[in-house]
Amino acid sequence: MSGRIPQAFIDELLARADIIEVLGSRLQLRKAGREYKALCPFHNEKTPSFTVSPDKGFYHCFGCGAHGTALGFLMEHDRLPFVEAVEELAGMVGLEVPREDSPAARVQRSHHELLAQAARIYRELLKDAPQAVAYLKARGVDGTTAARYHLGFAPDAWDTVQLRLGGNPEAEQALLTVGLLTENERGRRYDRFRDRIMFPIRDLRGRVVGFGGRVLGDGEPKYLNSPETPVFHKGRELYGLYEARQALRQIGRLVVVEGYMDVIGLARHGIAYAVATLGTATTAEQLARLFRVTDEVVFCFDGDRAGRAAAWRALENALPEAREGRQIGFLFLPEGEDPDSLVAREGANAFEARLATEVQPLSDFLVERLAREVDTDSVDGRARLAEQARPLLARLPPGVYRELLLEKLAATVGLGAARLEKLLAAGAPGVDTARERAATPARPRPRSGRASLVRQALLRLLHCPQAALTGPDPDFLASLERPGAALLQAVIDDIRAHPQITPAMLLEHWREHPEGRHLGRLLDTELLVDDEAAAEEYRDIMLRLGVEARRARIEQLSARAGTLEEAEKAELRALIAASGR
Ligand code: UTP
Ligand code: MN
Repeated sequence: MSGRIPQAFIDELLARADIIEVLGSRLQLRKAGREYKALCPFHNEKTPSFTVSPDKGFYHCFGCGAHGTALGFLMEHDRLPFVEAVEELAGMVGLEVPREDSPAARVQRSHHELLAQAARIYRELLKDAPQAVAYLKARGVDGTTAARYHLGFAPDAWDTVQLRLGGNPEAEQALLTVGLLTENERGRRYDRFRDRIMFPIRDLRGRVVGFGGRVLGDGEPKYLNSPETPVFHKGRELYGLYEARQALRQIGRLVVVEGYMDVIGLARHGIAYAVATLGTATTAEQLARLFRVTDEVVFCFDGDRAGRAAAWRALENALPEAREGRQIGFLFLPEGEDPDSLVAREGANAFEARLATEVQPLSDFLVERLAREVDTDSVDGRARLAEQARPLLARLPPGVYRELLLEKLAATVGLGAARLEKLLAAGAPGVDTARERAATPARPRPRSGRASLVRQALLRLLHCPQAALTGPDPDFLASLERPGAALLQAVIDDIRAHPQITPAMLLEHWREHPEGRHLGRLLDTELLVDDEAAAEEYRDIMLRLGVEARRARIEQLSARAGTLEEAEKAELRALIAASGR
Protein backbone atom coordinates (compact mmCIF):
# COMPACT_ATOMS: atom_id res chain seq x y z
CA MET A 1 0.00 0.00 0.00
CA SER A 2 1.30 3.39 -0.67
CA GLY A 3 0.43 7.03 -0.47
CA ARG A 4 -0.93 8.68 2.63
CA ILE A 5 -4.67 8.70 3.02
CA PRO A 6 -5.87 12.26 3.64
CA GLN A 7 -7.56 12.80 7.01
CA ALA A 8 -10.45 14.57 5.27
CA PHE A 9 -11.21 11.32 3.49
CA ILE A 10 -11.33 9.39 6.75
CA ASP A 11 -13.78 12.02 7.99
CA GLU A 12 -15.95 11.57 4.94
CA LEU A 13 -15.76 7.81 5.23
CA LEU A 14 -16.95 7.88 8.82
CA ALA A 15 -19.69 10.36 7.96
CA ARG A 16 -20.98 8.05 5.24
CA ALA A 17 -20.52 4.71 6.95
CA ASP A 18 -23.39 3.40 8.98
CA ILE A 19 -21.78 1.76 11.98
CA ILE A 20 -24.84 -0.43 12.48
CA GLU A 21 -24.49 -1.78 8.97
CA VAL A 22 -20.76 -2.35 9.33
CA LEU A 23 -20.94 -4.09 12.70
CA GLY A 24 -24.20 -5.76 11.73
CA SER A 25 -22.40 -7.56 8.93
CA ARG A 26 -20.25 -9.27 11.56
CA LEU A 27 -22.41 -9.37 14.68
CA GLN A 28 -25.95 -10.12 15.69
CA LEU A 29 -27.15 -6.67 16.76
CA ARG A 30 -30.36 -6.05 18.68
CA LYS A 31 -31.97 -2.65 19.04
CA ALA A 32 -32.25 -1.43 22.60
CA GLY A 33 -33.63 2.10 22.80
CA ARG A 34 -31.37 4.45 20.88
CA GLU A 35 -28.56 1.97 20.96
CA TYR A 36 -27.85 -1.52 19.74
CA LYS A 37 -26.56 -4.43 21.76
CA ALA A 38 -24.66 -7.58 20.92
CA LEU A 39 -22.63 -10.28 22.57
CA CYS A 40 -19.13 -8.85 22.65
CA PRO A 41 -16.89 -10.43 20.01
CA PHE A 42 -13.81 -9.53 22.01
CA HIS A 43 -14.55 -11.42 25.18
CA ASN A 44 -16.63 -14.31 26.36
CA GLU A 45 -20.01 -13.33 27.74
CA LYS A 46 -23.52 -14.65 28.04
CA THR A 47 -25.46 -11.43 28.26
CA PRO A 48 -24.72 -8.61 25.83
CA SER A 49 -22.70 -5.72 27.17
CA PHE A 50 -21.42 -4.67 23.78
CA THR A 51 -23.20 -1.44 22.91
CA VAL A 52 -23.25 0.49 19.65
CA SER A 53 -24.37 4.07 19.32
CA PRO A 54 -25.50 4.82 15.76
CA ASP A 55 -25.71 8.55 16.45
CA LYS A 56 -22.17 8.84 17.66
CA GLY A 57 -20.66 6.24 15.42
CA PHE A 58 -18.88 4.25 18.05
CA TYR A 59 -19.16 1.07 20.02
CA HIS A 60 -18.24 0.27 23.54
CA CYS A 61 -18.20 -2.88 25.64
CA PHE A 62 -19.04 -2.45 29.30
CA GLY A 63 -17.61 -5.88 29.96
CA CYS A 64 -14.09 -5.66 28.59
CA GLY A 65 -13.72 -2.01 27.68
CA ALA A 66 -13.31 -2.61 23.95
CA HIS A 67 -14.34 0.50 22.05
CA GLY A 68 -13.87 2.35 18.81
CA THR A 69 -15.36 3.51 15.55
CA ALA A 70 -16.49 1.48 12.53
CA LEU A 71 -12.92 1.74 11.31
CA GLY A 72 -11.43 0.64 14.60
CA PHE A 73 -13.86 -2.26 14.66
CA LEU A 74 -12.66 -3.54 11.29
CA MET A 75 -9.08 -3.31 12.50
CA GLU A 76 -9.81 -5.19 15.72
CA HIS A 77 -12.37 -7.66 14.52
CA ASP A 78 -11.01 -8.46 11.06
CA ARG A 79 -7.45 -7.89 12.24
CA LEU A 80 -6.74 -5.51 9.42
CA PRO A 81 -3.95 -3.00 9.32
CA PHE A 82 -5.18 0.60 9.22
CA VAL A 83 -4.88 1.11 5.48
CA GLU A 84 -6.66 -2.13 4.67
CA ALA A 85 -9.42 -1.33 7.13
CA VAL A 86 -9.88 2.01 5.38
CA GLU A 87 -10.08 0.20 2.07
CA GLU A 88 -12.56 -2.32 3.38
CA LEU A 89 -14.79 0.39 4.78
CA ALA A 90 -14.48 2.47 1.61
CA GLY A 91 -15.56 -0.58 -0.37
CA MET A 92 -18.60 -0.99 1.88
CA VAL A 93 -19.79 2.55 1.34
CA GLY A 94 -18.71 2.71 -2.30
CA LEU A 95 -15.92 5.27 -2.08
CA GLU A 96 -12.55 5.16 -3.80
CA VAL A 97 -9.62 5.73 -1.46
CA PRO A 98 -7.69 8.77 -2.71
CA ARG A 99 -3.95 8.82 -2.23
CA GLU A 100 -1.61 11.68 -1.87
CA ASP A 101 0.44 10.31 -4.73
CA SER A 102 3.98 9.65 -3.61
CA PRO A 103 6.99 8.71 -5.74
CA ALA A 104 6.90 5.28 -4.10
CA ALA A 105 3.29 4.81 -5.20
CA ARG A 106 4.22 5.71 -8.76
CA VAL A 107 7.05 3.20 -8.79
CA GLN A 108 4.74 0.53 -7.43
CA ARG A 109 2.18 1.27 -10.13
CA SER A 110 4.84 0.93 -12.80
CA HIS A 111 5.81 -2.48 -11.37
CA HIS A 112 2.23 -3.68 -11.50
CA GLU A 113 1.92 -2.39 -15.03
CA LEU A 114 5.06 -4.23 -16.12
CA LEU A 115 3.82 -7.51 -14.64
CA ALA A 116 0.44 -7.05 -16.30
CA GLN A 117 2.12 -6.52 -19.66
CA ALA A 118 4.21 -9.66 -19.18
CA ALA A 119 1.06 -11.64 -18.33
CA ARG A 120 -0.56 -10.40 -21.54
CA ILE A 121 2.49 -11.40 -23.56
CA TYR A 122 2.60 -14.91 -22.05
CA ARG A 123 -1.13 -15.31 -22.72
CA GLU A 124 -0.74 -14.33 -26.34
CA LEU A 125 2.19 -16.69 -26.78
CA LEU A 126 0.22 -19.66 -25.45
CA LYS A 127 -1.91 -19.45 -28.60
CA ASP A 128 1.20 -19.95 -30.75
CA ALA A 129 2.51 -22.87 -28.71
CA PRO A 130 0.76 -26.10 -29.75
CA GLN A 131 2.94 -28.19 -27.45
CA ALA A 132 1.88 -26.12 -24.42
CA VAL A 133 -1.78 -26.24 -25.41
CA ALA A 134 -1.47 -29.99 -25.86
CA TYR A 135 0.10 -30.32 -22.42
CA LEU A 136 -2.78 -28.45 -20.79
CA LYS A 137 -5.35 -30.43 -22.75
CA ALA A 138 -3.70 -33.68 -21.70
CA ARG A 139 -4.03 -32.55 -18.11
CA GLY A 140 -7.69 -31.84 -18.62
CA VAL A 141 -7.50 -28.05 -18.61
CA ASP A 142 -10.13 -26.62 -20.94
CA GLY A 143 -10.00 -23.28 -22.70
CA THR A 144 -12.48 -21.60 -20.38
CA THR A 145 -10.47 -22.46 -17.30
CA ALA A 146 -7.21 -21.42 -18.94
CA ALA A 147 -8.80 -18.11 -19.88
CA ARG A 148 -10.28 -17.57 -16.42
CA TYR A 149 -6.87 -17.98 -14.81
CA HIS A 150 -5.07 -16.10 -17.58
CA LEU A 151 -2.74 -19.03 -18.15
CA GLY A 152 0.13 -18.34 -20.51
CA PHE A 153 3.32 -19.70 -21.95
CA ALA A 154 6.92 -18.54 -21.82
CA PRO A 155 8.70 -19.88 -24.92
CA ASP A 156 12.06 -21.58 -24.87
CA ALA A 157 14.08 -18.40 -25.41
CA TRP A 158 16.34 -16.19 -23.28
CA ASP A 159 14.81 -12.87 -24.20
CA THR A 160 11.05 -13.12 -24.75
CA VAL A 161 10.21 -10.50 -22.13
CA GLN A 162 13.52 -8.71 -22.33
CA LEU A 163 13.04 -7.89 -26.02
CA ARG A 164 9.48 -6.74 -25.64
CA LEU A 165 9.62 -4.86 -22.35
CA GLY A 166 13.30 -4.03 -21.89
CA GLY A 167 15.11 -1.80 -24.33
CA ASN A 168 16.67 0.76 -22.01
CA PRO A 169 18.60 0.52 -18.72
CA GLU A 170 15.71 1.72 -16.53
CA ALA A 171 13.26 -0.71 -18.09
CA GLU A 172 15.71 -3.59 -17.64
CA GLN A 173 16.30 -2.63 -14.04
CA ALA A 174 12.55 -2.64 -13.43
CA LEU A 175 12.24 -6.06 -15.04
CA LEU A 176 14.97 -7.34 -12.70
CA THR A 177 13.24 -5.82 -9.70
CA VAL A 178 9.92 -7.51 -10.42
CA GLY A 179 11.68 -10.81 -11.06
CA LEU A 180 10.97 -11.22 -14.75
CA LEU A 181 14.66 -11.00 -15.63
CA THR A 182 17.53 -12.56 -13.78
CA GLU A 183 21.26 -11.92 -13.96
CA ASN A 184 24.27 -14.26 -13.99
CA GLU A 185 27.63 -13.64 -12.26
CA ARG A 186 29.00 -11.98 -15.36
CA GLY A 187 26.15 -9.51 -15.35
CA ARG A 188 24.34 -10.95 -18.33
CA ARG A 189 20.58 -10.54 -18.05
CA TYR A 190 18.00 -12.95 -19.39
CA ASP A 191 14.40 -14.09 -18.95
CA ARG A 192 13.75 -15.95 -15.70
CA PHE A 193 10.85 -17.95 -17.15
CA ARG A 194 11.61 -20.08 -20.20
CA ASP A 195 9.71 -22.95 -21.74
CA ARG A 196 7.10 -22.98 -18.99
CA ILE A 197 3.34 -22.82 -18.56
CA MET A 198 2.78 -19.50 -16.79
CA PHE A 199 0.39 -18.97 -13.90
CA PRO A 200 -0.03 -15.28 -13.11
CA ILE A 201 -0.58 -14.66 -9.40
CA ARG A 202 -3.06 -11.86 -8.78
CA ASP A 203 -3.66 -10.00 -5.57
CA LEU A 204 -7.07 -9.29 -4.07
CA ARG A 205 -7.54 -6.36 -6.41
CA GLY A 206 -6.66 -8.42 -9.45
CA ARG A 207 -3.24 -6.90 -10.04
CA VAL A 208 -0.59 -9.33 -11.26
CA VAL A 209 2.09 -9.46 -8.55
CA GLY A 210 4.11 -12.50 -9.61
CA PHE A 211 4.18 -15.75 -11.55
CA GLY A 212 4.55 -19.45 -11.16
CA GLY A 213 5.90 -21.39 -14.13
CA ARG A 214 5.73 -25.14 -14.72
CA VAL A 215 7.96 -27.14 -17.02
CA LEU A 216 6.12 -29.03 -19.73
CA GLY A 217 7.83 -32.29 -19.03
CA ASP A 218 10.00 -33.64 -16.27
CA GLY A 219 12.60 -30.87 -16.06
CA GLU A 220 13.89 -29.38 -12.84
CA PRO A 221 12.75 -27.46 -10.99
CA LYS A 222 9.18 -28.51 -11.71
CA TYR A 223 7.87 -25.13 -10.66
CA LEU A 224 9.69 -21.84 -10.73
CA ASN A 225 8.18 -18.94 -8.82
CA SER A 226 8.81 -15.21 -8.85
CA PRO A 227 11.23 -14.22 -6.10
CA GLU A 228 10.16 -11.96 -3.27
CA THR A 229 9.90 -8.49 -4.78
CA PRO A 230 8.59 -5.13 -3.61
CA VAL A 231 5.15 -6.14 -4.90
CA PHE A 232 5.21 -9.88 -4.25
CA HIS A 233 5.32 -11.58 -0.86
CA LYS A 234 4.74 -15.32 -0.84
CA GLY A 235 3.53 -15.33 2.73
CA ARG A 236 0.78 -12.90 1.91
CA GLU A 237 -0.69 -13.89 -1.44
CA LEU A 238 -2.84 -16.88 -2.26
CA TYR A 239 -3.10 -18.26 -5.76
CA GLY A 240 -6.70 -18.32 -6.95
CA LEU A 241 -8.24 -16.07 -4.30
CA TYR A 242 -8.95 -13.26 -6.73
CA GLU A 243 -10.43 -15.68 -9.26
CA ALA A 244 -12.59 -17.32 -6.58
CA ARG A 245 -13.98 -13.94 -5.59
CA GLN A 246 -14.68 -13.15 -9.21
CA ALA A 247 -16.48 -16.45 -9.75
CA LEU A 248 -18.55 -16.50 -6.58
CA ARG A 249 -20.81 -13.97 -5.01
CA GLN A 250 -20.85 -15.59 -1.62
CA ILE A 251 -17.99 -17.81 -0.59
CA GLY A 252 -19.27 -20.29 1.99
CA ARG A 253 -16.02 -22.15 2.19
CA LEU A 254 -12.48 -21.90 0.87
CA VAL A 255 -10.28 -24.91 0.37
CA VAL A 256 -6.54 -24.41 0.74
CA VAL A 257 -4.52 -26.71 -1.48
CA GLU A 258 -0.82 -27.03 -2.19
CA GLY A 259 -0.45 -26.52 -5.90
CA TYR A 260 -1.35 -24.30 -8.80
CA MET A 261 -2.65 -27.29 -10.70
CA ASP A 262 -4.85 -28.31 -7.79
CA VAL A 263 -6.61 -24.94 -8.00
CA ILE A 264 -6.93 -25.26 -11.77
CA GLY A 265 -8.05 -28.88 -11.66
CA LEU A 266 -10.76 -28.18 -9.08
CA ALA A 267 -11.94 -25.10 -10.97
CA ARG A 268 -12.12 -27.14 -14.15
CA HIS A 269 -14.61 -29.41 -12.35
CA GLY A 270 -16.68 -26.52 -11.11
CA ILE A 271 -15.11 -26.19 -7.66
CA ALA A 272 -14.18 -22.53 -7.87
CA TYR A 273 -13.37 -22.01 -4.20
CA ALA A 274 -9.86 -23.45 -3.99
CA VAL A 275 -6.76 -21.39 -3.32
CA ALA A 276 -3.12 -22.40 -3.08
CA THR A 277 -0.25 -21.25 -0.97
CA LEU A 278 2.89 -20.63 -2.97
CA GLY A 279 5.15 -23.46 -1.94
CA THR A 280 5.21 -22.40 1.72
CA ALA A 281 3.22 -23.19 4.86
CA THR A 282 0.06 -21.12 5.28
CA THR A 283 0.74 -18.01 7.32
CA ALA A 284 -1.60 -16.38 9.83
CA GLU A 285 -1.68 -13.39 7.52
CA GLN A 286 -2.96 -15.51 4.63
CA LEU A 287 -5.56 -17.03 6.87
CA ALA A 288 -6.72 -13.64 8.07
CA ARG A 289 -7.14 -12.74 4.42
CA LEU A 290 -9.23 -15.82 3.76
CA PHE A 291 -11.50 -15.11 6.71
CA ARG A 292 -12.27 -11.74 5.28
CA VAL A 293 -14.23 -13.43 2.54
CA THR A 294 -15.49 -16.63 4.16
CA ASP A 295 -16.29 -18.24 7.50
CA GLU A 296 -14.91 -21.66 6.71
CA VAL A 297 -11.43 -22.71 5.64
CA VAL A 298 -10.52 -26.32 4.91
CA PHE A 299 -6.90 -27.34 4.47
CA CYS A 300 -6.44 -30.14 2.03
CA PHE A 301 -3.42 -32.39 2.41
CA ASP A 302 -2.13 -35.70 1.26
CA GLY A 303 -2.85 -38.32 3.93
CA ASP A 304 0.76 -39.49 4.10
CA ARG A 305 3.32 -38.61 6.77
CA ALA A 306 4.57 -35.54 4.94
CA GLY A 307 1.00 -34.34 4.44
CA ARG A 308 0.21 -34.73 8.14
CA ALA A 309 3.35 -32.87 9.11
CA ALA A 310 2.41 -30.07 6.76
CA ALA A 311 -1.11 -30.04 8.20
CA TRP A 312 0.28 -29.67 11.71
CA ARG A 313 2.38 -26.70 10.59
CA ALA A 314 -0.72 -25.19 9.05
CA LEU A 315 -2.56 -25.74 12.33
CA GLU A 316 0.12 -23.98 14.34
CA ASN A 317 -0.03 -20.99 12.04
CA ALA A 318 -3.83 -21.03 12.03
CA LEU A 319 -4.26 -20.82 15.81
CA PRO A 320 -4.00 -17.02 16.07
CA GLU A 321 -6.91 -16.74 13.66
CA ALA A 322 -9.14 -19.35 15.29
CA ARG A 323 -12.22 -18.03 17.06
CA GLU A 324 -15.98 -18.26 17.47
CA GLY A 325 -17.81 -18.15 14.20
CA ARG A 326 -14.86 -19.32 12.12
CA GLN A 327 -14.49 -22.91 11.07
CA ILE A 328 -11.08 -24.34 10.34
CA GLY A 329 -10.80 -27.95 9.26
CA PHE A 330 -8.51 -30.50 7.66
CA LEU A 331 -9.25 -32.91 4.87
CA PHE A 332 -6.77 -35.74 4.42
CA LEU A 333 -6.81 -37.29 0.98
CA PRO A 334 -5.99 -40.91 0.17
CA GLU A 335 -2.22 -41.41 0.08
CA GLY A 336 -0.57 -40.37 -3.11
CA GLU A 337 -3.49 -38.27 -4.31
CA ASP A 338 -3.66 -34.53 -4.62
CA PRO A 339 -6.91 -32.62 -5.19
CA ASP A 340 -6.17 -32.35 -8.89
CA SER A 341 -5.71 -36.08 -9.40
CA LEU A 342 -8.58 -36.96 -7.08
CA VAL A 343 -11.17 -34.71 -8.66
CA ALA A 344 -10.12 -35.97 -12.09
CA ARG A 345 -10.66 -39.55 -10.94
CA GLU A 346 -13.75 -39.16 -8.74
CA GLY A 347 -15.46 -36.07 -10.08
CA ALA A 348 -16.69 -32.98 -8.28
CA ASN A 349 -19.57 -34.61 -6.41
CA ALA A 350 -17.38 -37.16 -4.74
CA PHE A 351 -14.88 -34.48 -3.82
CA GLU A 352 -17.59 -32.30 -2.33
CA ALA A 353 -18.95 -35.30 -0.47
CA ARG A 354 -15.55 -35.65 1.16
CA LEU A 355 -15.71 -31.99 2.13
CA ALA A 356 -19.13 -32.59 3.64
CA THR A 357 -18.27 -35.68 5.65
CA GLU A 358 -14.55 -36.16 6.14
CA VAL A 359 -13.30 -32.80 7.32
CA GLN A 360 -11.68 -32.94 10.72
CA PRO A 361 -12.20 -29.77 12.74
CA LEU A 362 -9.06 -28.05 13.98
CA SER A 363 -10.02 -28.73 17.59
CA ASP A 364 -10.31 -32.49 16.93
CA PHE A 365 -7.02 -32.61 15.11
CA LEU A 366 -5.27 -30.73 17.87
CA VAL A 367 -6.79 -32.58 20.81
CA GLU A 368 -6.38 -35.96 19.20
CA ARG A 369 -2.74 -35.40 18.52
CA LEU A 370 -1.99 -34.03 21.98
CA ALA A 371 -3.91 -36.80 23.71
CA ARG A 372 -2.29 -39.51 21.62
CA GLU A 373 1.17 -38.54 22.68
CA VAL A 374 0.80 -38.64 26.44
CA ASP A 375 -0.32 -41.00 29.15
CA THR A 376 -2.49 -38.81 31.33
CA ASP A 377 -2.68 -41.37 34.10
CA SER A 378 0.82 -40.50 35.15
CA VAL A 379 1.98 -37.29 36.74
CA ASP A 380 4.76 -37.08 34.19
CA GLY A 381 2.34 -37.56 31.33
CA ARG A 382 0.09 -34.78 32.54
CA ALA A 383 3.02 -32.46 32.90
CA ARG A 384 4.11 -33.32 29.37
CA LEU A 385 0.63 -32.67 28.08
CA ALA A 386 0.59 -29.25 29.70
CA GLU A 387 4.04 -28.62 28.29
CA GLN A 388 2.91 -29.35 24.76
CA ALA A 389 -0.47 -27.68 24.98
CA ARG A 390 0.77 -24.46 26.54
CA PRO A 391 2.48 -22.87 23.53
CA LEU A 392 -0.40 -23.90 21.29
CA LEU A 393 -3.12 -22.52 23.54
CA ALA A 394 -1.10 -19.38 24.03
CA ARG A 395 -1.44 -18.69 20.34
CA LEU A 396 -5.20 -18.68 20.52
CA PRO A 397 -6.87 -15.36 21.06
CA PRO A 398 -8.83 -15.29 24.32
CA GLY A 399 -12.51 -16.01 23.93
CA VAL A 400 -15.13 -18.66 23.74
CA TYR A 401 -13.20 -20.71 21.24
CA ARG A 402 -10.15 -21.00 23.42
CA GLU A 403 -12.25 -21.99 26.40
CA LEU A 404 -14.16 -24.62 24.46
CA LEU A 405 -10.92 -26.06 23.21
CA LEU A 406 -9.53 -26.20 26.71
CA GLU A 407 -12.65 -27.99 27.95
CA LYS A 408 -12.46 -30.44 25.13
CA LEU A 409 -8.82 -31.17 25.79
CA ALA A 410 -9.51 -31.58 29.50
CA ALA A 411 -12.38 -33.96 28.81
CA THR A 412 -10.38 -36.03 26.36
CA VAL A 413 -7.49 -36.57 28.71
CA GLY A 414 -9.76 -37.05 31.70
CA LEU A 415 -8.86 -33.96 33.68
CA GLY A 416 -11.12 -31.20 34.89
CA ALA A 417 -10.80 -27.97 32.95
CA ALA A 418 -9.76 -26.15 36.10
CA ARG A 419 -7.14 -28.78 36.81
CA LEU A 420 -5.74 -28.47 33.30
CA GLU A 421 -5.71 -24.68 33.55
CA LYS A 422 -3.68 -25.03 36.73
CA LEU A 423 -1.22 -27.36 35.06
CA LEU A 424 -0.93 -24.96 32.18
CA ALA A 425 -0.34 -22.04 34.48
CA ALA A 426 2.11 -23.94 36.69
CA GLY A 427 5.03 -24.05 34.32
CA ALA A 428 4.21 -20.90 32.43
CA PRO A 429 7.16 -18.54 32.25
CA GLY A 430 6.34 -15.19 33.75
CA VAL A 431 7.97 -13.14 31.03
CA ASP A 432 5.22 -13.00 28.50
CA THR A 433 2.92 -10.96 30.64
CA ALA A 434 1.09 -9.21 27.84
CA ARG A 435 0.11 -12.51 26.34
CA GLU A 436 -0.89 -13.92 29.70
CA ARG A 437 -3.02 -10.96 30.41
CA ALA A 438 -4.62 -11.40 27.05
CA ALA A 439 -5.15 -15.06 27.83
CA THR A 440 -7.11 -14.51 31.02
CA PRO A 441 -10.77 -13.95 30.34
CA ALA A 442 -11.70 -10.32 30.49
CA ARG A 443 -13.38 -9.16 33.64
CA PRO A 444 -15.52 -6.05 33.91
CA ARG A 445 -13.29 -3.23 34.97
CA PRO A 446 -14.17 -1.36 38.09
CA ARG A 447 -15.73 1.93 37.12
CA SER A 448 -13.58 4.71 38.31
CA GLY A 449 -15.15 7.05 40.81
CA ARG A 450 -15.63 10.67 39.96
CA ALA A 451 -13.54 11.51 36.97
CA SER A 452 -11.46 14.65 37.20
CA LEU A 453 -12.97 17.83 35.80
CA VAL A 454 -10.70 17.71 32.76
CA ARG A 455 -11.74 14.13 32.04
CA GLN A 456 -15.37 15.04 32.49
CA ALA A 457 -15.01 17.84 29.98
CA LEU A 458 -13.24 15.57 27.48
CA LEU A 459 -15.87 12.91 27.92
CA ARG A 460 -18.63 15.35 27.10
CA LEU A 461 -16.81 16.56 24.03
CA LEU A 462 -16.40 13.02 22.83
CA HIS A 463 -20.14 12.59 22.98
CA CYS A 464 -21.06 16.03 21.80
CA PRO A 465 -18.14 17.72 20.01
CA GLN A 466 -20.17 20.75 18.99
CA ALA A 467 -20.32 21.83 22.62
CA ALA A 468 -16.80 23.18 22.09
CA LEU A 469 -18.05 25.60 19.43
CA THR A 470 -20.14 27.62 21.82
CA GLY A 471 -18.31 27.00 25.09
CA PRO A 472 -15.76 29.37 26.65
CA ASP A 473 -12.48 30.10 24.90
CA PRO A 474 -9.98 27.50 26.02
CA ASP A 475 -6.91 29.74 26.27
CA PHE A 476 -6.97 29.70 30.04
CA LEU A 477 -6.28 25.97 29.98
CA ALA A 478 -2.65 26.77 29.29
CA SER A 479 -2.19 28.02 32.84
CA LEU A 480 -4.11 25.16 34.38
CA GLU A 481 -1.82 22.68 36.05
CA ARG A 482 -3.94 19.62 35.71
CA PRO A 483 -3.21 16.38 33.90
CA GLY A 484 -4.91 16.36 30.54
CA ALA A 485 -5.39 20.13 30.31
CA ALA A 486 -3.17 20.37 27.22
CA LEU A 487 -5.03 17.48 25.61
CA LEU A 488 -8.36 19.14 26.33
CA GLN A 489 -7.13 22.33 24.76
CA ALA A 490 -5.89 20.50 21.68
CA VAL A 491 -9.17 18.63 21.31
CA ILE A 492 -11.12 21.88 21.52
CA ASP A 493 -8.86 23.42 18.86
CA ASP A 494 -9.40 20.37 16.68
CA ILE A 495 -13.18 20.64 16.98
CA ARG A 496 -13.11 24.36 16.25
CA ALA A 497 -11.05 23.69 13.14
CA HIS A 498 -13.60 21.07 12.00
CA PRO A 499 -17.01 22.34 13.06
CA GLN A 500 -18.85 19.41 11.41
CA ILE A 501 -16.84 16.82 13.27
CA THR A 502 -18.63 13.73 14.64
CA PRO A 503 -17.61 11.73 17.71
CA ALA A 504 -16.25 8.96 15.50
CA MET A 505 -14.15 11.39 13.44
CA LEU A 506 -12.82 12.95 16.60
CA LEU A 507 -11.61 9.59 17.85
CA GLU A 508 -9.99 8.82 14.51
CA HIS A 509 -8.20 12.18 14.43
CA TRP A 510 -6.36 11.09 17.55
CA ARG A 511 -5.56 7.55 16.46
CA GLU A 512 -1.93 8.34 15.72
CA HIS A 513 -1.31 10.24 18.93
CA PRO A 514 -0.26 8.61 22.17
CA GLU A 515 -3.01 10.68 23.76
CA GLY A 516 -5.56 9.04 21.52
CA ARG A 517 -5.49 6.00 23.73
CA HIS A 518 -6.51 8.12 26.69
CA LEU A 519 -9.41 9.48 24.73
CA GLY A 520 -10.62 6.04 23.82
CA ARG A 521 -10.27 4.89 27.39
CA LEU A 522 -12.44 7.73 28.57
CA LEU A 523 -15.29 6.09 26.76
CA ASP A 524 -14.87 3.12 29.07
CA THR A 525 -16.07 5.05 32.02
CA GLU A 526 -19.48 6.07 30.89
CA LEU A 527 -21.32 5.82 27.63
CA LEU A 528 -24.67 7.02 28.82
CA VAL A 529 -23.98 10.69 28.88
CA ASP A 530 -27.20 12.49 28.16
CA ASP A 531 -26.61 14.27 24.87
CA GLU A 532 -28.91 17.21 25.52
CA ALA A 533 -27.26 17.79 28.83
CA ALA A 534 -23.73 17.26 27.54
CA ALA A 535 -23.27 20.73 26.04
CA GLU A 536 -24.55 22.45 29.15
CA GLU A 537 -22.52 20.28 31.47
CA TYR A 538 -19.46 20.93 29.36
CA ARG A 539 -20.01 24.65 29.71
CA ASP A 540 -20.35 24.36 33.48
CA ILE A 541 -17.22 22.30 33.77
CA MET A 542 -15.28 24.77 31.65
CA LEU A 543 -16.48 27.66 33.77
CA ARG A 544 -15.34 25.87 36.90
CA LEU A 545 -12.00 25.12 35.30
CA GLY A 546 -11.81 28.77 34.33
CA VAL A 547 -12.31 29.86 37.91
CA GLU A 548 -9.65 27.44 39.00
CA ALA A 549 -7.24 28.67 36.36
CA ARG A 550 -7.83 32.27 37.39
CA ARG A 551 -7.19 31.46 41.02
CA ALA A 552 -4.02 29.64 40.16
CA ARG A 553 -2.84 32.58 38.09
CA ILE A 554 -3.70 35.06 40.82
CA GLU A 555 -1.67 33.05 43.30
CA GLN A 556 1.19 32.77 40.90
CA LEU A 557 1.29 36.50 40.23
CA SER A 558 0.70 37.51 43.87
CA ALA A 559 3.62 35.37 44.97
CA ARG A 560 5.91 37.65 42.98
CA ALA A 561 4.01 40.83 43.78
CA GLY A 562 7.17 42.91 44.16
CA THR A 563 8.70 42.01 40.81
CA LEU A 564 5.73 42.20 38.42
CA GLU A 565 5.96 43.96 35.10
CA GLU A 566 3.36 46.57 34.21
CA ALA A 567 1.44 44.17 31.99
CA GLU A 568 1.40 41.53 34.70
CA LYS A 569 0.10 44.02 37.23
CA ALA A 570 -2.71 44.90 34.87
CA GLU A 571 -3.47 41.21 34.36
CA LEU A 572 -3.60 40.63 38.11
CA ARG A 573 -5.98 43.55 38.63
CA ALA A 574 -8.26 42.23 35.89
CA LEU A 575 -8.20 38.74 37.31
CA ILE A 576 -9.10 39.93 40.79
CA ALA A 577 -11.90 42.06 39.41
CA ALA A 578 -13.27 39.15 37.37
CA SER A 579 -13.23 36.71 40.26
CA GLY A 580 -14.87 39.21 42.54
CA ARG A 581 -17.95 39.33 40.35
P1 UTP B 1 3.70 -30.48 -6.17
O1 UTP B 1 4.99 -31.10 -6.51
O2 UTP B 1 2.74 -31.18 -5.28
O3 UTP B 1 3.09 -30.13 -7.53
O4 UTP B 1 3.99 -29.02 -5.60
P2 UTP B 1 1.65 -30.23 -8.13
O5 UTP B 1 0.90 -28.99 -7.87
O6 UTP B 1 0.99 -31.52 -7.83
O7 UTP B 1 2.11 -30.17 -9.62
P3 UTP B 1 1.75 -31.03 -10.84
O8 UTP B 1 0.41 -31.59 -10.59
O9 UTP B 1 2.82 -32.05 -10.93
O10 UTP B 1 1.81 -30.03 -11.93
C1 UTP B 1 3.00 -28.24 -4.99
C2 UTP B 1 3.41 -26.80 -5.03
O11 UTP B 1 4.69 -26.62 -4.48
C3 UTP B 1 5.41 -25.62 -5.17
C4 UTP B 1 4.44 -25.07 -6.20
O12 UTP B 1 3.77 -23.97 -5.65
C5 UTP B 1 3.53 -26.25 -6.42
O13 UTP B 1 2.28 -25.86 -6.96
N1 UTP B 1 6.60 -26.15 -5.85
C6 UTP B 1 6.69 -27.45 -6.19
C7 UTP B 1 7.61 -25.29 -6.19
O14 UTP B 1 7.53 -24.08 -5.87
N2 UTP B 1 8.69 -25.76 -6.86
C8 UTP B 1 8.80 -27.04 -7.22
O15 UTP B 1 9.81 -27.42 -7.84
C9 UTP B 1 7.79 -27.91 -6.87
MN1 MN C 1 -0.43 -32.49 -8.94
